[in-house]
Formats: sequence, C-alpha cells, structure tokens
Amino acid sequence: MDNLFDEDPSVAPSGALTYDAARSFLGDPTVLVWLAELDGGLVGFLHCCIQRRRNAGPWAELLLMEMGTHVDWRRRGVGRSLLAVMEEWMREHRIREVWVPANVYATAFYEKCGFAKDEGEILVKALS
Ligand SMILES: CC(C)(COP(=O)(O)OP(=O)(O)OC[C@H]1O[C@@H](n2cnc3c(N)ncnc32)[C@H](O)[C@@H]1OP(=O)(O)O)[C@@H](O)C(=O)NCCC(=O)NCCS
Repeated sequence: MDNLFDEDPSVAPSGALTYDAARSFLGDPTVLVWLAELDGGLVGFLHCCIQRRRNAGPWAELLLMEMGTHVDWRRRGVGRSLLAVMEEWMREHRIREVWVPANVYATAFYEKCGFAKDEGEILVKALS
C-alpha cells in the first residue's frame, strides 16, 4: 500500500518487508521514521538518515530520504506536521541542517515549508 503515499498511486506497491528486514531497518540507529496516524490509520510517514559530518560544527545533518501523505489526506497539513516533528528532533539533538533530494512534484511543498534550492545537483548511479 506504499503506492498510496507516492506521487502516482497507480503504480504497484513495493511489497511488504519480512519481519527480520523490518526489524533490521527500524533497529538501525542512523534511521529515523515518523508516522502520522489518525483514528488508527496511517495518513503519513517521514524517513530520514542521520549523516555524520567530518568537519567542525554540528556533529551530523539529516538526509530526508522519503516522505508521503496518504493520497486522501493531502493538503491538510500532514506533511508540514511531520516536518515540524523532525525539526523538533533536530533541535533536541543539535542538528542544524536537513537535505532532501526532492522530486519535482514535491518541490513547491518543501519550499512552502522553508527549504531552499542549493547550488549543486543531485546525481545518481545505479550499478548494473
Ligand atoms: C509532498 C507531500 C508529502 C505534501 O504533503 P501534504 O500533507 O499534502 O502537505 P501539507 O498539507 O502539509 O502542505 C504544506 C504546504 O505545502 C503546500 N503544498 C503541498 N503540496 C503541494 C504541492 N504538490 N504543490 C504546491 N504546494 C503544495 C500546501 O498547500 C501547504 O501550503 P500552506 O501551508 O500555505 O497552505 C504529498 O503531496 C505527497 O505525499 N506526495 C507524494 C509523495 C512525494 O512526492 N513525496 C516527496 C518525495 S521527495
């Protein structure tokens, strides 16, 4: 059902993790996941990675890997609330920056929530 949290809900869901894989993912201390629930149902999620920094200054920054609001619950403040909880966590842990490799669909949302475009570009390489 993760397709319902995607830009295009008509794509097939990615499939459930095994119990062990889910345990390993959630048990990883560099992984942060927040869920937004309403009446026992999932309406949104946010997944970040903690990235250690090499140089002086804050000890780490966050990479916002993915987030999504259920397709029936968009534009009602769920995404903004998830970001607010993430930012509260950042303040508590003395982390000052969060990066997101945003898709085009979500760029305006991030900008509304205070993100700004950086000079660089994000490149990707998938091994064959
Ligand atoms: C992007 C996404 C997470 C936004 O979640 P949401 O719960 O609808 O966002 P909110 O309701 O909290 O919106 C916060 C603000 O952004 C604006 N906004 C939200 N989506 C927007 C969009 N696609 N284009 C322009 N503005 C948008 C809202 O109008 C709101 O502005 P306001 O506070 O001035 O009224 C949601 O559309 C989604 O799940 N998209 C599919 C998955 C995706 O693209 N994820 C991001 C991967 S990088």
